[in-house]
Amino acid sequence: MGTGSVLAQQVNPLEFDPRAARTGGVLFRAQCATCHGADGQGIDAIEAPDLTLLAMQDGITDGRVFQTIREGVPGSIMPPHDFPDLQIWTLVAYLKSIAAVGSAEPPGGNAQLGRELFLTNCASCHYAGDIGGRLGPDLSNISARRSQQALINSVRDPNATIGQRYHTVTLVLRGNQRIQGTIKNEDAFSIQVMDTGQQLRGFVKAELTELIREPDSLMPSFSRSALSDEDIVDILSFLHAQL
Ligand code: HEC
Ligand code: HEC
Repeated sequence: MGTGSVLAQQVNPLEFDPRAARTGGVLFRAQCATCHGADGQGIDAIEAPDLTLLAMQDGITDGRVFQTIREGVPGSIMPPHDFPDLQIWTLVAYLKSIAAVGSAEPPGGNAQLGRELFLTNCASCHYAGDIGGRLGPDLSNISARRSQQALINSVRDPNATIGQRYHTVTLVLRGNQRIQGTIKNEDAFSIQVMDTGQQLRGFVKAELTELIREPDSLMPSFSRSALSDEDIVDILSFLHAQL
């Protein structure tokens, strides 16, 4: 077998090996989790991407993921790895197993009612179609990225998982003025937030009296009395129609 042939390979030789993803998961937690998070969803502070969204990239193949892991990303802190090929393929298998999957199936609710419910309950913070705010993530193509159950969970319990670049912070300025928002960028000296008025604002940390990292999402949780399961499915139908 010629050298480099495995690298050129686009198909994971372990694709049908059920143990591969599990083995890759162990390796991932040991070698990658410090940057990409234990669940692969990324860590804001070091700008390591959410690897559960890899499959959303145009033209992504197993071979390209293999190559990224092997060679790293020059000019970034993503290091090269000189693991044996088969170990890298277990990582590729693992990343596939945690890929966020959406559904091509329409959720089956009433998109027209869903649009009204979206306008009343969600549009102040979320963009979809051609309307909405930007405090929360753009939901236009969300149903391609998340399962219906994951979306319902997000609405019922937003604090369970908070997306990258949406962590809540309260900044206390001199004179005790408080600004709440989501952290968009941060380094040792400065922080950029989207405030609750949906303005992007930058601050020098030295000028803050306090920087409080809040555990909770800025999204309110919607109980069943606020929105029934059918209401949520209607909203998801509306969102699905924006694809
Ligand atoms: C020291 C931190 C660090 C470690 C350790 C690390 N990564 Fe990364 N990784 C990054 C960063 C940062 C990026 C984004 C690079 C860029 O595009 O600027 C990245 C990018 C990637 C990408 C490409 C993502 C994309 O959106 O294209 C893959 C795949 C990946 N890493 C997998 C891994 C795997 C698997 C491991 C463990 C074997 C690992 N990384 C270890 C920091 C790290
Ligand atoms: C007050 C602002 C606000 C309102 C109102 C709001 N959200 Fe959110 N939403 C956010 C923020 C901020 C996030 C990101 C943090 C998080 O993940 O909880 C978010 C996250 C989400 C996510 C997760 C997205 C992902 O990438 O997984 C979904 C789904 C969602 N919202 C749906 C809704 C729906 C549906 C409604 C209306 C019923 C709604 N939101 C109302 C602010 C809001």
